[in-house]
Amino acid sequence: MQIRGLRLHHFRSYSQVLLTPPAGVTVLVGENGAGKTNLLEAVHLCCLGRSHRTSFDKEMIAQGQETSAVQLTVERNDGKHEVGVRLFENARKKKIIYVNGKTAGKMGELMGHATCVIFSPEDLALVKEGPQARRRFLDMLLSQQQRSYFYALQTYMGVLKQRNALLKTGDMRQLPAWDEQLALAAAPVVRLRREACRRLNDWAGQHYLYIGGKEDETFALQYESALTEAADPAEKMLQGLHASREEDLRRQYTTFGPHRDDVDLKLCGMPMKAFASQGQMRTAALSMKLAAFDLLTASQGEAPLLLLDDVLSELDPDRRRRLISRIGQAQALLTCTDPGDFIGACPACVLHVEKGHLHE
Ligand SMILES: Nc1ncnc2c1ncn2[C@@H]1O[C@H](COP(=O)(O)OP(=O)(O)OP(=O)(O)O)[C@@H](O)[C@H]1O
Ligand SMILES: [Mg+2]
Repeated sequence: MQIRGLRLHHFRSYSQVLLTPPAGVTVLVGENGAGKTNLLEAVHLCCLGRSHRTSFDKEMIAQGQETSAVQLTVERNDGKHEVGVRLFENARKKKIIYVNGKTAGKMGELMGHATCVIFSPEDLALVKEGPQARRRFLDMLLSQQQRSYFYALQTYMGVLKQRNALLKTGDMRQLPAWDEQLALAAAPVVRLRREACRRLNDWAGQHYLYIGGKEDETFALQYESALTEAADPAEKMLQGLHASREEDLRRQYTTFGPHRDDVDLKLCGMPMKAFASQGQMRTAALSMKLAAFDLLTASQGEAPLLLLDDVLSELDPDRRRRLISRIGQAQALLTCTDPGDFIGACPACVLHVEKGHLHE
């Protein structure tokens, strides 16, 4: 997948920009606050309809502007795909999604046209923080891998919200009907997460060995869900909902189901969070992102876009070199503050970023 054009209009620190990076690695270099991450965020917004660092779309509109637009054209094996997003300051106006020149009725239509994997210093949260960060990682990845996952998740979250609302009323009569629906909605989410984790584990383990460079350090990733082993997730979900009904009514929310899922991470068989050093956690997070890259590459038959935000400066030269070699031929946008950081990355192009402007 190659970017043919990335356009920003009144997006964060940019008033108007067109970026047409060549194949291979494009380095974006500039001081703190210059606007490097803003560019990667714009790509992420076009791929997934949301920012990778905020859930408040408005923050991305350039200060003082009513609206902001980003547009990304990529060339893929099957031809050109053009996606775009327009955001509005006015809370009554919903964001508009464009796919190949037409307004999309649903957010799901955006998924899978342009795909990306972003690496950033915040990835450490994947290892260090709670289950939510790991669920989000799976959700972002699987939504890009197949649109049906995004729709399945949307359905599940919608039914969950309604069941939770019902629990607050204390009215039991409608509960069996909602249990049934929630169980049916949970099944595809669980199946796809389970399958993805199985494949991610193989790749992430290999990447960890290679980047870490120590053959006795094994990294493993495992889907952790109340429904992990279920041959029939819908049936098991229904049983779980029945068993937790009293608890749910007392707490007034649903305590059982894939919205509580996690991904278990182990280093040499020990829980990563309690056992691993900072550097080992970083390598684990990096390996998970590289595995996500592999999963998208395998399922789409071509590499997604790679967004590498400030990741080289945190790796020692050996690990840096190994990371670069893993990226292979994919098109990558790589940010750094110090030109010394990308030595060894063999960039096809170096762009300087300064206060919302780009120059060679
Ligand atoms: N909505 C907005 N309108 C105008 N400017 C904004 C907006 N949001 C952020 N900015 C500006 O964008 C800049 C931050 O951009 P960005 O996060 O891309 O920096 P960076 O080059 O990645 O820096 P660092 O090296 O510290 O990560 C800041 O100067 C900030 O003031
Ligand atoms: Mg940045």
